[in-house]
Parts: sequence; structure tokens; C-alpha cells
Amino acid sequence: MPSPDAAAHAALLKHFAAIGPRHLRDLFADDPKRAERCVVRLGDLRYDYSRHRVTPETVKRLAALARARGVEAFRDALFAGEPINLTEGRAVLHMALRDPDGALTPPAAAAEARAERAKMAALVERVHTGDWRGHTGRVITDVVNIGIGGSDLGPAMVVQALTPDHRLGLRAHFVSNVDGAHLHQTLARLEPDTTLFIVASKSFTTQETLRNAHTARRWLVEAMGAEAAVARHFVALSTNIDAVKAFGVDPANTLRFWDWVGGRFSLWSSIGLSIALATSMETFDRLCAGAHAMDRHFVEAPLEANIPALMALIGWWYVELFGFAAHAVLPYDQNLARLPAYLQQAEMESNGKRVRRDGAPIEGMTCPVLFGEPGTNGQHAFYQLLHQGTHVVPADFLIAAEARHPLDDHHRLLLANCFAQAEALAMGRTEGEVRAQMASDGIAPDDIDRLAPHRTFPGNRPSATFLYRRLDAFTLGSIIAAYEHKIAVQGALWGVNSFDQWGVELGKVLAKGIAPDLEPGALVTAADPATAATIRAARALRGESR
Ligand code: F6P
Repeated sequence: MPSPDAAAHAALLKHFAAIGPRHLRDLFADDPKRAERCVVRLGDLRYDYSRHRVTPETVKRLAALARARGVEAFRDALFAGEPINLTEGRAVLHMALRDPDGALTPPAAAAEARAERAKMAALVERVHTGDWRGHTGRVITDVVNIGIGGSDLGPAMVVQALTPDHRLGLRAHFVSNVDGAHLHQTLARLEPDTTLFIVASKSFTTQETLRNAHTARRWLVEAMGAEAAVARHFVALSTNIDAVKAFGVDPANTLRFWDWVGGRFSLWSSIGLSIALATSMETFDRLCAGAHAMDRHFVEAPLEANIPALMALIGWWYVELFGFAAHAVLPYDQNLARLPAYLQQAEMESNGKRVRRDGAPIEGMTCPVLFGEPGTNGQHAFYQLLHQGTHVVPADFLIAAEARHPLDDHHRLLLANCFAQAEALAMGRTEGEVRAQMASDGIAPDDIDRLAPHRTFPGNRPSATFLYRRLDAFTLGSIIAAYEHKIAVQGALWGVNSFDQWGVELGKVLAKGIAPDLEPGALVTAADPATAATIRAARALRGESR
């Protein structure tokens, strides 16, 4: 007897042999109700997967495979706070941070989160009312979040996405890169006595963040002429309270979180302070409420009508059976410009893995390469490859029905472009259609023969469209949570641990070893010949050869 997993997989393979080669044009022709049938709604959010190369039968078989692979049990273990991050022995409970009454997650975790959220609200209130003053008594006009990875990308993405909700008189800045240009150019725009630095680091050991924080601190103390100024201009967000103290931030100015919050899922924790400061505590609460609504949907809806599960199952189907190795995220919203970068960390740091949970190697692919840009800009850059390249890249389109700015004519044009691209990718333009069009345009027959292959669009390039009323905090929270749960489901399907990131360690260790070789006058000790040669070349270019 084959295992339920093997049986479900075999059934899926058989189904793929029939459905895989079919064109989206045919799938729409087969089912006149497809455009309405392949839609799941959650409040204002409409997830349309009708342009994915699946049928209701595919969804049924994918859900059967997911059940056979224990996806539902895994979801339950996730929400129950079991230590599913098995290489670090940790629970994964960022959902508790947005679970107001502990209905979906362990009540103790939700209660801890609530208490810390109250401290965050108090701090936000003090800054917003002007009760919190800088060392010289001036109110805070600029906050600088110093952090990297999950301690930067989430808050930076959300702060930009919610630009219409920004509070007047308080600007948020983000410094992440250890490239001194980032900090230097940011500080150049700031006045020390009205600036509040937020040092955001789960571990409080991250090299880039600590270097930037130390430099910012030196800049402040030099400008103020007093060490005591640090207490009025630095707050910290971390799980490592001892390291925060050692850096010199007063525990009273520290908001903590817990090791059950993964860095790339931490924007709902104190790491979201810059979001609440840039907008308001109410906006941050709405963001969390939107995410909670998606959590509930993920927990309660059957896999066949479950937005994150469908995103995951269909994405897995493309990687596993079609061999599509990339995925594009295409927000038609300039304010979502950082969403692809945020999702690069969320998805690729989570599921960019090559071994299973038990350490056995994986044959085949796991996480696709994720990339994207806001539309319409991307249309004039990489969409050529999406339409006519040899890779098939499944895409997510995201767009609001209503703009949050007064230029409504622009927004109608944006909507038209978004919808046109999804249609063009799916339906394409056959050679016959292209020839007929050229003939009706009066193009000479020889030219038609020459140009037709270049002007033909194969189509059958799949996409989903997320359409929502407007990009407010609630909707944004729901969208982010949908991607988070997609990641968990895909990790369960591939059988990887989505919640560790050992792959980033080696480079960190090597950088520590290489740094002393770059000090003026130091001996080059690097053992790797290419590294040693590059160090010598860099030092020669810097005029520092020995
Ligand atoms: O190096 C990767 C990483 O650990 C990410 O997972 C994390 O988001 C980032 O570094 C920053 O870590 P921290 O918040 O501990 O400074």
C-alpha cells in the first residue's frame, strides 16, 4: 500500500500530465464561470486565481496532498506554540502579537505581547504629544530606525506603504547598510537635538546595526557635548536586554520581544515602533487587526478556499511540477515599492533551504527566486522577459480599486495597466492574430512573415490578482499575513524548516576574519587565495599597500 502522501502525489502527477500542457485560453473556454469561481474573498480583499494554470480538480488534488503531508496538523502546531523551529528549539508565534485576546494562540504569549504593546503605546504617546523631549528640551521631529533584515525591511516597507497615514511633523528614516554612505547621508539631513534613534535588533549582536548605532551615538554625543544625552535620544528594541544595557540604553527606554518572534516576522512586535511613530498607534493596531483577520481565515477556512493555502499550493505546483524557478511580485502601488524586497527576505530566507527537517537532502527545487517592482515601472523594464522570455514566471498583481491621493485619472490608468498585463500574460496573442492585425494595418506580406514570430505572445503565463478597496493599514496587514502563512504552508509541503537561517552565518564569520586584514599596515592572513588577492588589490587601490 502506498503511503497517503505517495498516493496523493501519484494522483497529482497523473492529473498534471493532463492539465499541465493546457492553455489558459482553453481553461477559460471550458468553464464560462471560471473568472468568478476561482476567487476567494476576505472582507474587501479579493484573491483571484483564475489566471493560474489550475482547475477545481487541481485544487482538490493539491489540498489532498497538503493534508497527506500534514499541513493542517503543522498549522495547528504553529498556532499552539509548539517548538516547530526545530534547529533552534523555538516556537514561531508572531501571530500572538496580533491576537488581542489570545483566541488563536497561547494566551500567555498574547498577554505578554499586550503588556509590551501598552509600553509601546505609552512611548508613542509621549513622543507625539511632545512630552518626550531631546536633551536640549526640543521636541522630536525625526526618528531613525537603525536595524537590518527583519529589523528594517518590515517597518520600512510598511511606513512607505502607509504614506497617506503619516503624521505631520515627524519623519521616519531607516538606516540598515553598514556602508557608511547610508548613515552619513541620513545624518547629514538631521539635527541631533530633535532626532530619536531606535536601535532595532532581535539579537543585539548584528555587526552592521551595532556599528551604525555606535557611530550614531558618537555623532550625538559629540554634537551635544554630553554622554547624558543618550538617554533622551536612544531607544532600543530587542530580545537581548543585557546587550542593550551594555550598549548604554536605559532599560526604561527599551521595548522587548521574545525568541518566539522570528526576525523576518517581527514587524508586529516592538520592531514596529517606527510604524506607530510615523503614523499613529491606532494605525498600527489596524495593521495588526488586518493580520489577525487573515490569521483567523487561515486557521478556519478549508484549504480549498483558503487564501494563504492556495497561494502556497499553486506556487508549489509551479516549482515542483512545471519547474518554474522564479516568482514575481508586482504591486501596482508606488507606496508598495519595498514589498518585493520585504518578501525576498520573508520567502527566500525562510524556504531557501536544501535539506528537510530531518537533515535529508532535497531532490529538486524549493523556494523560487522572488523579485518585483511596482507597476507600471516594471512594464518598461523586465516585463519583456515575462511576456516573451524562455522562463515562465508566475506573478502576483496587487492593486487597490481606489487611490489614496486625489489624482483619480492616474489611478484609472494604473488599474487599466494592471488588468491589461494580467490579461496579456495569460491570453497572449497568437501568430494568426498578429498576422491578421498586421494585414489590417497594411503591412506588406514579406514584412508580416519576417515580423510575426517576434510579435507573437505565447500567453499561458500565470498570475494571481489581489484587488482591494484601498491600501489602508487593515488591508496591508491582511496581505502581509497572507504571505507569511503561504511561507509556512510551502515549508510544510517541502518538509523544510522555514524558521531558521543558517545560510547567512558563514559570510558573517568570514567577514569577521577578513576585517583585520583590511586595517592599515596589517598583514594579509586570508587563506583563501582569491580572497587574499582581492584584499591586496583593494589595499593597493586604496594606496595602502605594504
Ligand atoms: O543575518 C540574518 C538575520 O539574522 C535575519 O534573520 C534578521 O532579520 C537580521 O539578521 C537582523 O537580525 P537582528 O534583528 O538580530 O539584528
